[in-house]
Amino acid sequence: MTDQVLTEIQGNIIIIRLNRADKKNALTGDMYTGICDALDQLENDANLRAGVITGTQECFTAGNDLVDFLNSAGIGGESPVGRFLRTIPNLSKPLVAAVNGPAVGVGTTMLMHCDLVYAAPGAKFQMPFASLGLCPEAGSSLLFPQLIGYRKAAELLMLCKMFTPEEAVTMGIVNEVIAAEEYQAHAIAQAEALAKLPPRSIRVTKQLLRKGNEEQLKAIMKLEETYFTEMLAGAEAKEAFSAFLEKRKPDFSQFS
Ligand code: COA
Repeated sequence: MTDQVLTEIQGNIIIIRLNRADKKNALTGDMYTGICDALDQLENDANLRAGVITGTQECFTAGNDLVDFLNSAGIGGESPVGRFLRTIPNLSKPLVAAVNGPAVGVGTTMLMHCDLVYAAPGAKFQMPFASLGLCPEAGSSLLFPQLIGYRKAAELLMLCKMFTPEEAVTMGIVNEVIAAEEYQAHAIAQAEALAKLPPRSIRVTKQLLRKGNEEQLKAIMKLEETYFTEMLAGAEAKEAFSAFLEKRKPDFSQFS
């Protein structure tokens, strides 16, 4: 059990807090395991009716820990990331996200599997997979073009453009921008509101909202897993990751 993921039960909801501020809450294998244990608890405990996922007050998450990633076997199978990518889309109960500061990589893509998302004005969203020599994950290659159209999705997933909370609201990725002092309390209040509604009705509504995409999502996530795992061990990713760790600009001119 890592103290870099804190959980707290408040009545009928569970609050999951990413807690590794010195590394911008970058996610290690142990942290994915901590999140999944908490999501399993939400799924299996009949007293729990909704969850909240958030970071520290100032930061959601800088995405996968790049050092951990370099030494990992990828995002598939029994890996902690693989477990996370199977658990979050299959959660039957509602999950609310509260975001401030960086929401990078999986910090943005996981939001597509949350039901409600609130962001503080300081939130910064980015999916830099292509610039890291990788490819989209968590079903983002299907879910983003569906939600925002191909053109915008190409801007976010190929050019890796960073976007603001206001743009995220316009694109339908975030429900509302809430003041920094209140965004976490607001997300918790929304989860509490969900927890007061008829629980089966909420579960069936969530299931139906997502059912139409289920098979397509499963298929694209399988393909993403295959490419991502192969590319993580590839030369382009090695150059991108080394550049990040050496605090220099990557040079992709040698690749074809
Ligand atoms: N993996 C590992 N370490 C990370 C990290 C990550 N994804 N993101 C940040 N860190 C570390 C930094 O290396 C730094 O460590 P140090 O203090 O030992 O040097 C510390 O967290 C603080 O990060 P820093 O870059 O100084 O903060 P910032 O506010 O200037 O920038 C980010 C924040 C998120 C924009 C920047 O850290 C970043 O781009 N991180 C990488 C994001 C990424 O590519 N994620 C993977 C997606 S698949």
